[in-house]
Amino acid sequence: MGNLGHKVGFLGVGNMGSAILNGALNKGILGAQDILALDKVQERTSKLKDSGINIAKGIEELVEGSKTIFLCVKPQDSKEVLDTLSKCELGKRLIVSIMAGVSIGTMRRLLGLEVSIVRAMPNTPLLVGEGVTAISYNGHRREEHLPLVKAIFGSLGLVFEVDETLMDPITALSGSGPGFVFKLMEVFWEAGRELGIPEGMAKEMVIQTFLGAARLSKESQMELPQLREMVTSKGGTTEAGLKRFSELNLDRSLKETLKAASSRASAINEELSLKLTQ
Ligand SMILES: NC(=O)c1ccc[n+]([C@@H]2O[C@H](COP(=O)([O-])OP(=O)(O)OC[C@H]3O[C@@H](n4cnc5c(N)ncnc54)[C@H](OP(=O)(O)O)[C@@H]3O)[C@@H](O)[C@H]2O)c1
Repeated sequence: MGNLGHKVGFLGVGNMGSAILNGALNKGILGAQDILALDKVQERTSKLKDSGINIAKGIEELVEGSKTIFLCVKPQDSKEVLDTLSKCELGKRLIVSIMAGVSIGTMRRLLGLEVSIVRAMPNTPLLVGEGVTAISYNGHRREEHLPLVKAIFGSLGLVFEVDETLMDPITALSGSGPGFVFKLMEVFWEAGRELGIPEGMAKEMVIQTFLGAARLSKESQMELPQLREMVTSKGGTTEAGLKRFSELNLDRSLKETLKAASSRASAINEELSLKLTQ
């Protein structure tokens, strides 16, 4: 793609907004001339300006100049942003929100029932092009814009179209997921050190082990249990470790961890919905 003939707006170019924008630029999905960006933090926009990206002076100008608008501000800024957007003429524009916990219903109530909205839940590995993004859209979606949205997120990893009812569990699994994986890696690292492996070496080994296992599971024809069995010989070390894993009921603990995150996602959704529509 590139050189679309119309602009894609980015409202907020912090961690996630800039990662999405840069991913789309690097993969040639968008050209600098296709982007209109806005952020309160001037260092963020001046860097983009140096690469030839247009910078809007305010939300109104961003809306006027773009056909698709990515909302990449924190949920706590959603009220201000949605209030301002509700006063703009959105017409046939497509709003793509990555704000965690802000439902399509809440956005439609604020922006108008006719507005086309995509809600997306990306995750931080998107920063290195290995993200997972779940997207849902409302009934008034603009079909012609969707391929572009999918291509933009697709330039940064895998994209799944899902029913919005799955957003809370997905927020737990792939949204918060990297946080749980990092915690597991920290525990492995600590255990390695306690077992006498030098700190730096243990860290590199842990990172490569997670990376290697993830890649093997992606590239192999085998299912996860088969891959596990492949490492688990009878009477061996993996079997001894996994026996302790079961005795400690770690399966249950890990499932409880994800369930707690999913419940919290639902609660945040409700809190935000009340706050935004009051
Ligand atoms: N991190 C994750 O794993 C993850 C996963 C999925 C979804 N998300 C979602 O991604 C969104 C963005 O997160 P982030 O970490 O990228 O946030 P961030 O780094 O804080 O970036 C947001 C940027 O938007 C700016 N901003 C806020 N209100 C604005 C306004 N009215 N006009 C112009 N600019 C404005 C902020 O400026 P100030 O700093 O001055 O406020 C900041 O520079 C969040 O809603 C989060 O829920 C994050």
